[in-house]
Amino acid sequence: MVLYLLLLVLYATRITSIQLCPLLGPSWPAPTDLPSDPAFQSALQNITTNIQDAVTAGNFSGDSLSLMIFDTSDSSSLLNLSNTGQTINTTIGVSKVDENTVFRIGSVSKIYTMLLLLIEDGFNPFNDPVSRYIPEIRAATVALLENSTKRHDGIDFLKWNEVTDFPLCSQRRFHLAVFQIHAAGSVCRRTCFVYCDLLTRLLITEFFDGLLQAHPIVPTSATPIYSNAAFQILGYVVETLAGEGFEKVLEKEIIKKLNLTHTFYNTPRTSLGVIPIPQGEFWWNFNLGDEGPAGGLYSSAKDLSILGRAILNSTLLPRSITRKWMKPLTHTSSLNYAVGAPWEILSFGNERPIDLYTVSGDFSTYSSVLALDPDHVIGFNVLAAGSNTHETVALASDIVSESLLPALDQAAKNQANGRFAGTYALTTTNSSITIDTDDGPALVVTNWINNGTDMFPSYMILYGIPDRSQFSIRLYPTGLQSPGQLSFRAVIPLQFPPGIGPFTSSCITWATIDLQVYGNIGVDEFVFDFDESGNAASLSPRALRTILPKIS
Ligand SMILES: *[C@@H]1O[C@H](CO)[C@@H](O)[C@H](O)[C@H]1NC(C)=O
Ligand SMILES: *[C@@H]1O[C@H](CO)[C@@H](O)[C@H](O)[C@H]1NC(C)=O
Ligand SMILES: *[C@@H]1O[C@H](CO)[C@@H](O)[C@H](O)[C@H]1NC(C)=O
Ligand SMILES: *[C@@H]1O[C@H](CO)[C@@H](O)[C@H](O)[C@H]1NC(C)=O
Ligand SMILES: *[C@@H]1O[C@H](CO)[C@@H](O)[C@H](O)[C@H]1NC(C)=O
Ligand SMILES: *[C@@H]1O[C@H](CO)[C@@H](O)[C@H](O)[C@H]1NC(C)=O
Ligand SMILES: *[C@@H]1O[C@H](CO)[C@@H](O)[C@H](O)[C@H]1NC(C)=O
Ligand SMILES: *[C@@H]1O[C@H](CO)[C@@H](O)[C@H](O)[C@H]1NC(C)=O
Ligand SMILES: *[C@@H]1O[C@H](CO)[C@@H](O)[C@H](O)[C@H]1NC(C)=O
Repeated sequence: MVLYLLLLVLYATRITSIQLCPLLGPSWPAPTDLPSDPAFQSALQNITTNIQDAVTAGNFSGDSLSLMIFDTSDSSSLLNLSNTGQTINTTIGVSKVDENTVFRIGSVSKIYTMLLLLIEDGFNPFNDPVSRYIPEIRAATVALLENSTKRHDGIDFLKWNEVTDFPLCSQRRFHLAVFQIHAAGSVCRRTCFVYCDLLTRLLITEFFDGLLQAHPIVPTSATPIYSNAAFQILGYVVETLAGEGFEKVLEKEIIKKLNLTHTFYNTPRTSLGVIPIPQGEFWWNFNLGDEGPAGGLYSSAKDLSILGRAILNSTLLPRSITRKWMKPLTHTSSLNYAVGAPWEILSFGNERPIDLYTVSGDFSTYSSVLALDPDHVIGFNVLAAGSNTHETVALASDIVSESLLPALDQAAKNQANGRFAGTYALTTTNSSITIDTDDGPALVVTNWINNGTDMFPSYMILYGIPDRSQFSIRLYPTGLQSPGQLSFRAVIPLQFPPGIGPFTSSCITWATIDLQVYGNIGVDEFVFDFDESGNAASLSPRALRTILPKIS
């Protein structure tokens, strides 16, 4: 077989350990029909019990809470739980918290701003200097470049010519600090940036005067710093692109299209909201002015689920844009915490990271989080109102994640086993492949004979793994599909020397994909064909130009 000649020996060394080294992304196709999946059912029961226990134990400080788990298969939720806090003003607000109760969502508002930017012009603005969209910044850039004192003073003057929208949307300053600084100066009424009245114009000028005199915190693209002002500017960019006020664009492009009946840019009636005592009414009514795109919005658990579903399902964007959007832009100093635009990306799991793309917000007596899991195409949100809401939302989110994520992997594996496991064979040529699942990730090839030749011994020699029990070929879904067909790539877990650091022990399997080709086709490319019920009917190891029907 010519294949052998093409394969490289990657590691053929001493006593070593096997690392499964999956590719980034899902191990199996996303699970479907979750309400009838036993692993998922058990997780929902645990979450319900654990949340109720935490309420009883006082872990949520008597805060009001609304929580929803959702996927894209259905417009009803997978779980919705609400708790009505002990001290709320039922004269002016709701007396019972439910899925439609409106909360302030604070910085979760940033996700709407970012989504609007992507809807307006995809990633195109992200390579441009922001001065292209904002006249005040354009003027400041010119002033900076013309004045040699400013040009050479890197500590007091930000190099605005270096600022593109991309760093802006991942550059974030600590919320409370900014909030205090800007709150006094920003109690202005927003109309619009492009066609605005004189008063608004003056207030915007004031914002930019302040902003442009502010000292930079770090050089551009140095480290992510939380910034509400950045999202105020991005709100202006949305207006420049759309030629309309932010509120109008939000209404037209998101609220109307998704039918978000409980999402508001301006303060809605208190009777829709949960109003904690004592400070709730003050904060409910507090007008953030032009900082709205950074933190001013109001929404409900049900509406945030609709938004989350639309993001996961790419309802408002091309899928290629969503894939690019849901990636990190920078690390933070925590390895399990990266930053996107404006995603806060939390990584769970040991052998294989499961990334939650989250956005969270704190607005005094209100806190919230929206968390999306693109690998399993599922998400959840938590909204809280009361006295200790940041901790309440964080704890509730950990309680949900702790049970939910392992159960989703279990459900995905069980379903993949049902759909794909079995033997695929052409007895006339003595060719067969057996597929199964085990304790590890992905679909596992447990036997592979091609035209009378057992493929395993030669692969084992090539990959330097003498022990058959240590050897496996694992098939990961690539996300490529055609009607009735799904594509996978094989990863052979490598044997690693004990390793003393990342150079010796990092996973390099991502560099081995499609490395070996046979007549232009990667030897690692596998494609399943389905029958009408969605179960695998045949399997093709593409390089071998053969299709093996499923026989058992
Ligand atoms: C649910 O909780 C039980 C008891 O704590 C635990 O054994 C089980 O693994 C949990 N299941 C899930 C899916 O989290
Ligand atoms: C919840 O409250 C109980 C009782 O006060 C306490 O023992 C427990 O540690 C708390 N759990 C968390 C996660 O804060
Ligand atoms: C998500 O997209 C799929 C496929 O395009 C569609 O069948 C499904 O109805 C959508 N779900 C929602 C909630 O829009
Ligand atoms: C949430 O739960 C309530 C009652 O438990 C139910 O009436 C409602 O339909 C659920 N909402 C969604 C979106 O599933
Ligand atoms: C509820 O709000 C109303 C209107 O501000 C106020 O008059 C009333 O005292 C509040 N009730 C409580 C219990 O704080
Ligand atoms: C350049 O900027 C510095 C610092 O703001 C200012 O003091 C100086 O007057 C400016 N020079 C000119 C020529 O505008
Ligand atoms: C929008 O949602 C509301 C409340 O959920 C519902 O009554 C209404 O029929 C929906 N409208 C459309 C156009 O889907
Ligand atoms: C299969 O093996 C037989 C005998 O070893 C050989 O004659 C034939 O060419 C092989 N077929 C393919 C497709 O490699
Ligand atoms: C098919 O090939 C395998 C591996 O070479 C061999 O062990 C087996 O006996 C063959 N089966 C038949 C029916 O020829």
